[in-house]
Amino acid sequence: MDPRSAPPSLPFGPSSIRLAVIPGDGIGPELVASAIAIMTAACELDGVSLQLEEEQAGAAQYRKTGDALLPGALDRLRAADGVLKGPVGLPEVRKPDGTEAGLLGGLLRIGLDTYANMRPIRLLPGVDSPTRFRSGEIDYVIVRENTEGLYLSRGAGVRNRHAAADQLLVTRAGVERIARFAFEQATLRSGAPLDGVRRVTCVDKSNVLRSYAFFRDVFDEVATDYPEIEADHLYADAAAHALVVDPARFDVLVMENFLGDILSDLGAGTAGGLGMCPSGNIGADAAYFEPIHGSAPSIAGQDRANPVSQILSAALLLRHCGRPDIARRIDAAVERAFVEGAVAIQPSGGPVGGTEATTRAILERLTD
Ligand code: IPM
Ligand code: MN
Repeated sequence: MDPRSAPPSLPFGPSSIRLAVIPGDGIGPELVASAIAIMTAACELDGVSLQLEEEQAGAAQYRKTGDALLPGALDRLRAADGVLKGPVGLPEVRKPDGTEAGLLGGLLRIGLDTYANMRPIRLLPGVDSPTRFRSGEIDYVIVRENTEGLYLSRGAGVRNRHAAADQLLVTRAGVERIARFAFEQATLRSGAPLDGVRRVTCVDKSNVLRSYAFFRDVFDEVATDYPEIEADHLYADAAAHALVVDPARFDVLVMENFLGDILSDLGAGTAGGLGMCPSGNIGADAAYFEPIHGSAPSIAGQDRANPVSQILSAALLLRHCGRPDIARRIDAAVERAFVEGAVAIQPSGGPVGGTEATTRAILERLTD
């Protein structure tokens, strides 16, 4: 049948979505309010009802009770269809060992076993890059392993007056599942901008450390299950260089936790800044979506924060919940707002006109 004469298809995906929402610290609550206004309006246009349950968590919560999460939080987050999380952390709220309290990264990523940190880096139309590349040429996903690697040493390293040590641990099961996740992502995409080839690049320092050589070997084993996808390798230092000078060759990149933390910020820097890049933390039983930047307490409550990363995270969340149609509606509204000049980002990272005006400009473009 000619698809143009097909009867309207039945609504696909769920018609009601139950979300847990963590407003977070600093600029978190205003970003989350912006993303929720946009999600609610977009869902309404497509006949989907959103139920929201707020979960207080983060540094302010830690200051109140000595714990960053309330009792039962992990169960509540697991029970939701998905979780939208604002940035957390307050520089003055510290643990006795000097590290920041209330960051949630370790608690949620390990507690919910959200092993895959998916970080799409995409230069949107109408957004400038400090590189010589334009929209369409920077469009890849960093898949960061989220539950082991160097950060498994969080809170477990040793330190005395003379020396300190942390340990990098990777397991076969951990590398297998993250490599598989990366190849599955590649099957959903249309390849690298440069040549349209579906490609997964394993980024490591296997020339120096055994742990990274192990990571690469397990990656190569998993790659044999995906003969239709090109398996590529790059040392992390060379990858940092290539992400700046040759980003169009990348489609999906997979790497250990610490490398993924660093290189995803580098990628964001080429795509309009940290305020533009969303992320998803995805596991078998839970998923939460958040900006990749911090909580910027110094500008909190001043209508100065860029809500785009939080809004695009909400779109990723809706895609994860089985509503790619609503996700596309939000992505398209963001793009149109930039292309039409209704939204622009200052060199400082703040949106011209402020958070609320930016939210309104995107809201007004949700209808097709
Ligand atoms: C990130 C953040 C976190 C991390 C911090 C805040 C603990 O930088 O999500 O990239 O290091 O993973
Ligand atoms: Mn980071």
